Amino acid sequence: MEDWLPPHFAYRKNQLWLEGVKLDEVAAEYGTPCYIYSARGIREAFERYRSGFEAAGLDVTICYAVKANSNLAILRLLQSLGAGADVVSAGELYRALEAGIDPAKIVFAGVGKQRPEIEFALQKGIKAFNVESAGELALIERIALEARLPHALGISIRVNPDVEAETHPYITTGKHSNKFGLAIEDAKQLALKVVASPVLKLRGLQMHIGSQLLKVQPIVDAFRRLVALAGEVEAISGQKLEYLDLGGGLGVSYTGEQPADPAILAQAIAEVLKEAGRSYPLLTEPGRYLVAESGALLTEVLYLKSNEATNFAIVDAAMNDLIRPALYQATHKIVALALPKNSVAESNIQNYEVVGPICESGDWLGRNVALSDLEEGARLAILCAGAYGFTMASNYNSRPRAAEILIDGAQHRLIRRRETLEDLLAAERL
Ligand code: LLP
Repeated sequence: MEDWLPPHFAYRKNQLWLEGVKLDEVAAEYGTPCYIYSARGIREAFERYRSGFEAAGLDVTICYAVKANSNLAILRLLQSLGAGADVVSAGELYRALEAGIDPAKIVFAGVGKQRPEIEFALQKGIKAFNVESAGELALIERIALEARLPHALGISIRVNPDVEAETHPYITTGKHSNKFGLAIEDAKQLALKVVASPVLKLRGLQMHIGSQLLKVQPIVDAFRRLVALAGEVEAISGQKLEYLDLGGGLGVSYTGEQPADPAILAQAIAEVLKEAGRSYPLLTEPGRYLVAESGALLTEVLYLKSNEATNFAIVDAAMNDLIRPALYQATHKIVALALPKNSVAESNIQNYEVVGPICESGDWLGRNVALSDLEEGARLAILCAGAYGFTMASNYNSRPRAAEILIDGAQHRLIRRRETLEDLLAAERL
């Protein structure tokens, strides 16, 4: 879709605005590259998720997947809306707690939790560890015994339902060829071990089949297996589970695709429960859906050069700022912050390879990007970069990481300053 823009981005008088802010001015004020986020967009995405589940009559806790965007101000915004968190490291847990997220709404996921991380999470009183192997469960139980907690420690078992999620192979997680979760029979055995433990409490079962899911059906198929397993575990143990956890959220539109609506997903989930004659409170862990479309990476064109094969637009953002194109061949729509004054008929439209300054041919941000009357010094927005953008950024080529700015109505404020050269060396010793 040529003209498609994410919510709250719009051209007015040839200038790209986000909410009540002209982006060329923001870029000039804070410098480029910088990430900008729409608070309104994030609030609306959260409300769409919540209201979709509520409309289907489901009791849902939204545990935001911190890995998608872990800036403290973004976490605080989501906390203020009532979000819990899905964390995968002590670092993410620390961030979530600093942002004020209630530990009773935090779940800790990941195949490789380490002793200090488990101890930290246990002290903070999180809702549950999503356990992914027998060895991990044994370690958590040992730590719980040593800690002599006054209450049992919450555990959920992550199931690998072996379904095809129909997304990029790097972000498919629910097949038996993926390292995640436990096959249904193994999950059952582990769940029963938890039930038998004096220091652990089996709270729920969890699944997660992949990310950027545009279709509801694979999630529903996996959930049906989760519900059947829950029934078996309850029949054997004689205990009712407190919740079922659906894992990550729905995909988003990068270039105008039509992702499923949370209300449709929720309706289908409610149907599965109804068919099975069961009801559970639910947890869900959306990341991308809540933040992706609300963010963009702003960058400036440094140089233009062409040969007979290719027109290059060399910009000041690079794969260290946004690695999704290089890593997944992901397409992010790229648009100009200021449109040329010429009419379409008079303008010179060229297709560009938008590339960064990093010394690798894999350092590209967009391919075949049609831009008109592009000049050196012009600024561009790389759209839908609010999720897995800054959180996957690195200092490769010793590039300081970009600034982050939160826009809310006509207001904008810095929520992470640009790193300095001193920051790059701060942890090192000669
Ligand atoms: N829960 C678990 C256990 C997860 O592993 C993930 C994502 C989520 C929740 C959140 O999924 P979402 O709602 O965002 O789809 N870096 C990749 C995405 C990796 C996702 C990994 N797990 C990308 O840029 O596309």
